[in-house]
Amino acid sequence: MDEEILRLLREHPFTFLSGEEISRQLKVTRTAIWKRVKHLRDLGYEIEASTRSGYRLIQSPDLLIPSEIKPILETKWMGRVIHHFNIIDSTNSKAYQLALNGAEEGEVVIAESQDKGRGRLGRHWFSPPFLNLYLSIILRPKIPPHQASLITLVVAVATAEAIQKFSGLQPMIKWPNDILLRDRKVAGLLNEIHSEMDRIHFVILGIGVNLNMDEEMFSKEIREGATSLKREMGQTISRKAFLQCLLKELEGWYAIFLEEGGGPILKAWRERAQIKGKQVKVTSFGKTLVGMAVDVDSDGALILETEGGGKKRVVAGDVKYK
Ligand code: BTN
Repeated sequence: MDEEILRLLREHPFTFLSGEEISRQLKVTRTAIWKRVKHLRDLGYEIEASTRSGYRLIQSPDLLIPSEIKPILETKWMGRVIHHFNIIDSTNSKAYQLALNGAEEGEVVIAESQDKGRGRLGRHWFSPPFLNLYLSIILRPKIPPHQASLITLVVAVATAEAIQKFSGLQPMIKWPNDILLRDRKVAGLLNEIHSEMDRIHFVILGIGVNLNMDEEMFSKEIREGATSLKREMGQTISRKAFLQCLLKELEGWYAIFLEEGGGPILKAWRERAQIKGKQVKVTSFGKTLVGMAVDVDSDGALILETEGGGKKRVVAGDVKYK
């Protein structure tokens, strides 16, 4: 009902809408409307109420709740079902559970904060409330499991494109899928897959974007290597507006991948990957490899030319530039 009330109020931006009219349209009592208006005010909506004239929406909060997001979405199917939480352990874990219970492709989980936000390689993802974006999307691609790693590239490209369209800045991708602005990490991706040998049940795309973090909010350990869009753009970021842009890019790039295969994705990914020709140290499954990054394979694996002259493929790991 909250969404319906907000929809009606938004249709009359300059005038009051009477409680009677709202209750007639939504077929509920005026007391029920008043209760929901009080609830919306608690969420941060500024709603003027007058006993004679009714209600008027003055301002909406920058919350990532469905009633704020749905009216502005520019996607056909992605994000049309939103599971929103003020706090959750991890949006990826929640999305995984929902997918196991039959949630459909395109459903998203969004949280204002996470207390067990998960990063790659078992790391923690710092997720303070109301500042950033913590998002997980359920996909059910009909592709063989060996192509699933390409989806990670799809998400990296789409996230980088969204940041560029939104900010005018030019993000780079650090292998495998960190998104950087001026060499500092602004977004991280954690994709998880549930599959059989020959069939993918679902993929969870986990995306964390630092939007409104100030420098001192990052822990000392990561401060030097991390940034936020606010810091790079010098202004507070509307999380809703960024989410709108991100979901549109994700839906668009995923469609390109399904229709045209990995080619266009790899091309876009390579254009943003700054790794080619760099001397790197890669930690992968407890081993350390040193060499020159020469390319990225068609499945997204990193190709290294090692000191002895041979070539090695690295499918997962952590890269440090030397
Ligand atoms: C990385 O280590 O770079 C990946 C970070 C991924 C963080 C996001 S936030 C939303 C989603 N839920 C999680 O628990 N992790 C991902």
